[in-house]
Amino acid sequence: MRQLKHKRDTWGSRLGIILAVAGSAVGLGNFLRFPVQAAGNGGGAFMIPYFISLLLLGIPLMWIEWTLGRFGGGFEHGTAPGIFHSIWKKNRFIKYFGVIGIFGPLVIFIYYLFIESWTLGYSFYSVKGLFAVVDQPSMQAFLKGYQGLESNAFFHDLWPAYIFFFITFVLNMIVLRHGIKGGIEILCNITMPVLFFFGIILAIRVLSLGTPDPARPDWNLNNGLGFLWNPDFSALKSAKVWLAASGQILFTLSVGIGVILTYASYLKKGDDVVLSGLTAASVNEAAEVILGGCIIIPAAFVFFGPGEIQAIAKQGAFDLGFVTMPLVLGKFPLAPVFGFLWFGLLFLAGITSSVSLAQPAIAFLEDEFDITRQRSVKIFGVVSFFLCQPAIFFLGRGVVNELDFWGGTFCLVLFATIETILFAWVFGMDRAWEEIHHGADMRVPKIYKFIIKFITPLFLLTILGFWIYQEGLPVLFLKGASDADKPYIFWTRIGLIGLFTALAVLVKIAWRRRAREEEKKLL
Ligand code: PFF
Repeated sequence: MRQLKHKRDTWGSRLGIILAVAGSAVGLGNFLRFPVQAAGNGGGAFMIPYFISLLLLGIPLMWIEWTLGRFGGGFEHGTAPGIFHSIWKKNRFIKYFGVIGIFGPLVIFIYYLFIESWTLGYSFYSVKGLFAVVDQPSMQAFLKGYQGLESNAFFHDLWPAYIFFFITFVLNMIVLRHGIKGGIEILCNITMPVLFFFGIILAIRVLSLGTPDPARPDWNLNNGLGFLWNPDFSALKSAKVWLAASGQILFTLSVGIGVILTYASYLKKGDDVVLSGLTAASVNEAAEVILGGCIIIPAAFVFFGPGEIQAIAKQGAFDLGFVTMPLVLGKFPLAPVFGFLWFGLLFLAGITSSVSLAQPAIAFLEDEFDITRQRSVKIFGVVSFFLCQPAIFFLGRGVVNELDFWGGTFCLVLFATIETILFAWVFGMDRAWEEIHHGADMRVPKIYKFIIKFITPLFLLTILGFWIYQEGLPVLFLKGASDADKPYIFWTRIGLIGLFTALAVLVKIAWRRRAREEEKKLL
């Protein structure tokens, strides 16, 4: 067996990896994306497909990734090319499918980081006078000014946002430079409890709102919660709602993209994955449906009403979080404090996710090229810094949407499908079942043997098919994109193809290098 010159990092404790995986999962997706998806897809109508997707996709994929990651770590492979190759040695091409497991997280990273930095900026402005802005058009102008989309009374240029981006970027690199145990684990051990503390305070505040406007008795807390929780079975027939719900499950749990594979590769052979994986998923769901569901939606409902929430959700992915929420918080006494709690919570949620998105690329350099962690982080830092720039400067030109579409949607479903099939059909379900239960603290219910083998892959293939038909093709042919945006979208795609090709070439080089070394050893 090959041996790296540099010793691979490990997790310091079991709680450490659970909090790190939960930290990756709990992110902007829980507090910004989930409310938009839920509100935009009819509230209660969304929640049934959401929970079904959790049981049939999210939890199985969590177990699959923990198990495959730990398995790959045993061969000193922390990323999908090496892990897939270890499962299917005879297939020369499978490692290139694994490239998606580095490419996808990197693509998400390059736009996620910019959005994460807005939350740092808004935490600052919460204390420095954001709440002097009291109406929706002005708050929208504040956001657009901050994003550099227009020059207005609030901002003349992008510099303030750029400074917050730079600080966010540096903070991420500092954590990554300290590695798994000394960086990511410590970060998550500290931030996760603080995040929950902030979330609980905000949720309690919102839950004590009652009926703030007596002239509109229907706009009350009960109805606000009911908006999310009153089930609507008619939506089960809508493919669009299913796509949105299953996509949200994959995104929020950070599964189906290679990140958990990398985290789990730092486990030891006898470490439990069943209970730990389930715990991490449960922490994420608590943060999403309880905290995420108790803050923004009911708060927006009681102040803006049901019609307006849906309209806002449809206006854009960020309006609920960066426009509506500050307006709601501005109505509270101590608004700057609550504002700071809200955006601070988002920032903590964001940073524990962005470091996880960076780790596969770093682990790839460390494991496959035997480069030290410090150097790997340096290389990653320089490359990713440049890659982040188009998302910042051409946000208004559809670049972020494009990156989110390929990285945060398409790659997620595609990679999830590939790894599930590899696990259940190539690795083989009997062997897989044994591997899952190595060192396990609880047994997976037997029905999951059937689910993982048949239901999860079928479900994923169906989503993939529908998705390509309904959304993929129109987007591919730039339907609905304005003429002004088309060149930017085109160049983003060229860039993505270039990035994928570069990673594939690196895989090829790494494998050649290894083959040569092994030959040398034999001589
Ligand atoms: N789960 C994160 C969120 O909800 O914001 C986003 C994310 C992180 C997606 C890591 C994918 C991933 F691999």
